[in-house]
Amino acid sequence: MSTEKHIYQPNPKFAKDAAINSMDAYWKLQNKAIEDYEGFWKGFADEKIDWLSAYNKVLDESNAPFYKWFTEGRLNVSNQCIDRHLADKAHKTAILFEGDRGEVEEITYAQLALHVNRMANLLRHEFNVQKGDRVVLYMPMIPEAAYAMLACTRIGAVHSIVFGGFSSEALKDRIEDAEAKVVITADGAYRKGKPYMLKQVVDAALEQGGESIEAVIVVKRNNEPIEWVEGRDHNYNALIESQHSECPFELMDSEDPLFLLYTSGSTGKPKGVQHSTAGYILWAQMTMEWVFDIKDDDVFWCTADIGWITGHTYIIYGPLAAGTTTVMFEGVPTYPDAGRAWKMVQDHKITQFYTAPTAIRVLHKMGEDEPKKYDLSSLKILGTVGEPIDPPAWKWYYETVGNSNCAIVDTWWQTETGGHIISPLPGATPIKPGCATFPLPGIMTEILSYDGVVKKASEPGLLCITKPWPSMIRNIWGDPERYVKAYFSDVEKDGKAVYFSGDGAVQDEDGYITIVGRVDDVINVSGHRMGTAEIEAAVKKDDHVAEVAVVSRPHELKGESIFIYIVLKEGHINKNIKEHINEVLCSEIGNIAKADHIIEVPGLPKTRSGKIMRRILRSIAKDEEITQDISTLEDPSIVEEIIKKAREA
Ligand code: PRX
Repeated sequence: MSTEKHIYQPNPKFAKDAAINSMDAYWKLQNKAIEDYEGFWKGFADEKIDWLSAYNKVLDESNAPFYKWFTEGRLNVSNQCIDRHLADKAHKTAILFEGDRGEVEEITYAQLALHVNRMANLLRHEFNVQKGDRVVLYMPMIPEAAYAMLACTRIGAVHSIVFGGFSSEALKDRIEDAEAKVVITADGAYRKGKPYMLKQVVDAALEQGGESIEAVIVVKRNNEPIEWVEGRDHNYNALIESQHSECPFELMDSEDPLFLLYTSGSTGKPKGVQHSTAGYILWAQMTMEWVFDIKDDDVFWCTADIGWITGHTYIIYGPLAAGTTTVMFEGVPTYPDAGRAWKMVQDHKITQFYTAPTAIRVLHKMGEDEPKKYDLSSLKILGTVGEPIDPPAWKWYYETVGNSNCAIVDTWWQTETGGHIISPLPGATPIKPGCATFPLPGIMTEILSYDGVVKKASEPGLLCITKPWPSMIRNIWGDPERYVKAYFSDVEKDGKAVYFSGDGAVQDEDGYITIVGRVDDVINVSGHRMGTAEIEAAVKKDDHVAEVAVVSRPHELKGESIFIYIVLKEGHINKNIKEHINEVLCSEIGNIAKADHIIEVPGLPKTRSGKIMRRILRSIAKDEEITQDISTLEDPSIVEEIIKKAREA
C-alpha cells in the first residue's frame, strides 16, 4: 500500500492553526520526550488534568511491567469530562444524539451533569454500588449509556461494557470474570427502523449464571414487551426522576481502575483489559487535541459503538475531556439509504468524521456518488481505525468525501493502548495513503525481531512500544501472569521486556510505518477482533465435532472473514454443517463470529508430533499455492483432499 507514490501535504488552510502545525513542531515535541521522558509527560499532566490532589512521581517503573503513572495523584474523570467545563461551557452541547429514526436530542454540559449526577446517586444509594465495584453495561447507543459510564466514574465504580452484539453466553462469561454487581441495560433500541431487543439476552445470561449480579437496571427505549424478574429488575425511568441532582464525586487515585474492556487474544478466553484513571484520560484528551485538532466550535463524530475501545475513548472520554460536542448515533450509516452518514454530516455541520475502513468500503460500494448530494464543506479531518485501509477506499474517502481538502488520519492503536499510538497529525504530516505514518509525540515505537534487533527499512518486523506510556493497559483483570505473558514475554530489547502489540509492521526509508496486520492468531473481521482459539473453543462445544481449525480469508468488504475447517466425529454426517456451526457460534459468541466458510474435511494437516500446520490451512483459505514443505506431514495426501474440498465450497 505504501508503494502509492503520491504524498498528500496538509491543507494549509487548516494547518496554520493546528495544535501541531509542522513536522518541525512534531520533532521538537518528540525530541523533548526522548531527552526528558518524565518531564515531557509532567508538562502535559500538569496542564491538562484537573488534579484534586498532586501526584508525587510521574512514572514508577519499580514493578515493571506493572507501571504506575502519576502516583498518589487524585482526580475524578467525570469532573475532568463535565464539572470543570461548567463554568464556561454549561450551555454548549456535550452530546448530540441522533436516533435511528432521525430524532435529534442535544444534551448540554449542564444537562449532562444533571443526568450523570442522578444516575450516580441511583447507583450509589439505591443499589449500594461502591468504589471499586464492577458494573456491566449491555446497552444500545443511547445517551443513557454515556450517563451510565460517567456515573460509574463519578462514584469510582469500574464499568465493563459488553458490546450489544455479543450473545448471552459471552455476556455471562464477562459478568462472571469481572464478578459484577449490577447490569445496566435497556429493553432494546432501534436499528434500521425496527426495534431490536437486549433485555432478553441479559435474562438468558443470568439464567445461565452470573450469580454475583444483585440488580438489573433497565432503561426503557423502545417499550417493547419484556420479561420482568421481580426483586432483580428495576425500571430506570421510574427511579431516576427522584434522584438528587447533585452527587459528590469520589477522589480517585491515578492508578485506580477506570474500566475493564474484554478483548480477544491469541489464546484462551477473552481478556479483561484494565485501564487506569489518570493516564487514560490524559491521553484520551491529548489525542483529541492533536490528532483531531479539536477547536471550540467543532462537532466531532466517531461512528463506533461504545462497546469497543474506539467508542470509549473517542465518543465519550476523549471528546468530553476536551470539552467538545460529540455525536452519538443509534443507527447504521446506510439506513434508510447510503446517504445517511453524509446527511448527518450536513445537518450537524460535522467537522471531524471518524470511522472504520469496512464502513468506508460499504458506503463506497453502496453509494459512490452519494456524498456529492450533500454539503460536506464543514469537514476538516477524516479518520480511520481498526484495520488497514486499502488504496481505493482511501482515495474515495479523500477525494469524494473530503473533496480533496481534508487530512486523513489513519490511526493505529488497540484496546490495550487506550488511545492513538501511530497516526498522522492533520496539520503536520505529509500523508502516504495506507500508512499510519509516525508514532505520536511521547510514544516510542520500534519494529523489532523476536530477539530485539531493530529491523532495517523495508524489512517487516514486530511492532513494539519500547517505553511505557500513560494510557497503556495496566493489567488483565484477575490475571497478572497472563498480562505479563501476553504483552511482555515475546520481545526483549537490551535485556528489558518491551510491549509487543501482536501486529507486524514495516518502516520505509522515510521512517513511515505501515501496519501489516496481526502476526498472532487473532483475526480482524470488519474491525472486530477475535481470537481463532476462542472461535475454535466455541465450535468444539458441538458434540459432532472431532477437530477444528480456524483461519482467516481476505474479504472485499470486511477485510477478513472467518474460514473454518471441521473434522466430524466418526459416524457423524451433517448435511447442514455450515448453518449448524454458525448457530453454535452465534450462541456462544454472537453474530460477529459467524463464519463465511465452513468446510468439512477428512483430517487436518499435522506434523508427526501432532501439531496442526496452520500455515498450510491459511494458504488454502486464501487460495494460494502451497509453498511449505509438506513431506514432513503425518499424511501429506490430506493436503490435496483439503484443497479439493475448499475449492468445492
Ligand atoms: O491489528 C491492529 C488493528 O486492530 C487491532 C486492535 O484491535 P482492537 O483492540 O479491537 O482495537 C481496534 C480499535 C483501536 C490492532 O492490533 N488496527 C487498529 N488500527 C489499525 C489497525 N490495523 C491497521 N491500521 C490501523 N489504523
